[in-house]
Amino acid sequence: MNILNTIRERRSIHTFKDQEVNTELLEEIFTYGSYAPTHYMTEPWKIKIYQEGGKTAFVDAILASYQRIGMLKMDGSPKSVKMNDSMKKFLLEIPHHAVIYFEKKEDLIRYEEEYASVCAFIQNVQLAGWEHGVGMLWTITPYMHDPQFLKDIGLNNEKVKIAAVMQLGYPDRVPKDKGRSPIQDKLEIITD
Ligand SMILES: Cc1cc2nc3c(=O)[nH]c(=O)nc-3n(C[C@H](O)[C@H](O)[C@H](O)COP(=O)(O)O)c2cc1C
Repeated sequence: MNILNTIRERRSIHTFKDQEVNTELLEEIFTYGSYAPTHYMTEPWKIKIYQEGGKTAFVDAILASYQRIGMLKMDGSPKSVKMNDSMKKFLLEIPHHAVIYFEKKEDLIRYEEEYASVCAFIQNVQLAGWEHGVGMLWTITPYMHDPQFLKDIGLNNEKVKIAAVMQLGYPDRVPKDKGRSPIQDKLEIITD
């Protein structure tokens, strides 16, 4: 595939095959991510990948966060138990969860530069993955803003920001292309 086809054909993946991506390939895909532009060459991205047995504590931390912030009830009722169990099952079935984070900066401009660069990194990773048949879902979820969640996974909310959690694996189903608006609707060319 050439890069232009890959850009157009990559889709966000919501369902994955029960198959892990091997570490060598993950490293290759994330290496392509690092060719993202980065001001001052800070390469601010850091990645924690949870897979196999490593998912258990990670998923427990997510559920605990959902409970703290009221997205999942813990009242012991059959309905709540069922919801907790199905969320846990759903999350554990995702082959890999990649937490992408970076060091916070006090200076807003530096912070924005680092965040922008990490987002470029993420999109490079998605495209490199797609070239290798690996699909992803870029997620931004409420637990990313829960300081206790960060603590539970060994991060300090005062020092780092989670930019995204990527759900990752071989696609079970590739959604249809939703298309995009004509760029002319968004584009202004100013000539004088
Ligand atoms: C910053 C960001 C956050 C996203 N968060 C979610 C999410 O939490 N859940 C989800 O289902 N999709 C999420 N998406 C994926 C978008 O829904 C998806 O990119 C969009 O529907 C276009 O589909 P496509 O990627 O297949 O072209 C996110 C995308 C971005 C860029």
